[in-house]
Amino acid sequence: MALGWGTIGRVSNDELFSEERSAEVVAASFADAPDPRLRTVLSSLVRHLHDFVKDVELTEAEWGKAIAFLTATGQKCDSVRQEFVLLSDVLGVSMLVETINHRAGGATESTVLGPFHMVDSPPRALGDQIDLDGKGEPCLVTGRVVGPDGEAIGGASIDVWQANEDGFYDVQRPETIPANNLRGLFTAADDGTFWFRSVVPCHYPIPMDGPVGELLRATGRHPNRPAHIHFIVQAPGYAPVTTHLFVNDSPYLDSDAVFGVKPTLIRDFPTMDDPARAAEVGLPNPFRTVDFEISLKQA
Ligand code: BEZ
Ligand code: FE
Repeated sequence: MALGWGTIGRVSNDELFSEERSAEVVAASFADAPDPRLRTVLSSLVRHLHDFVKDVELTEAEWGKAIAFLTATGQKCDSVRQEFVLLSDVLGVSMLVETINHRAGGATESTVLGPFHMVDSPPRALGDQIDLDGKGEPCLVTGRVVGPDGEAIGGASIDVWQANEDGFYDVQRPETIPANNLRGLFTAADDGTFWFRSVVPCHYPIPMDGPVGELLRATGRHPNRPAHIHFIVQAPGYAPVTTHLFVNDSPYLDSDAVFGVKPTLIRDFPTMDDPARAAEVGLPNPFRTVDFEISLKQA
């Protein structure tokens, strides 16, 4: 029988902390946690953490360094910067959580949200230009939102955001990039289609000016993400999808710093040399194009 905390009396060696029984003893300390899920998660966490410490025989200096690293990671966070999420991203944990929680089952596959989504995306009309600073290669983005049987989902909301040709989101360079550059919240037409004008996205490095950057440098890892456009697509009655559209010829598709690439999300961006079509959609000729059909499953 486990003794309560603070109990004074005789205890057996089995109940006391030792190198051999450390995980069991600490996990048992959560045995009376009223929330069963919290009990499960903490007990498992303690077991894996203790296994890890024993596996590498963590030194006191390494433990101190880890504490300093986590402290610096927290200190780097503010209302717009989330260094802990970035740490989770480069360790592949964000992608794992995303993948476990959104097993596709016929829907478009999901990937990481990333730190540059804005809750209040600017509402835009179909066909709008989202490139506000006129930099980059013009691109016509078209697509359709469909349900499990290929049925059109008219009125679906399509939230998009991407980096500019220098690899920066508007929020990263508020002094030089117009607010809401390369962002838009669109509503699909009755037949599920959507379209907007943009530029071909560019690959870019994740923020490297914090502890996560130090970690990547210390381990010889590059910080780059392949070129992509972010999408969050949702409609009443369907499960929302948070995903990316990746550019087929982008560098780093095979070594994304945050492990976000899924082959089903990669598309060609062919060049269209068609002055009449260019005039029709309001882009200079020639221009790049991409089409992205997004499938949602029932909620
Ligand atoms: C992004 O794609 O915006 C992103 C994702 C994870 C970390 C940094 C950036
Ligand atoms: Fe991104």
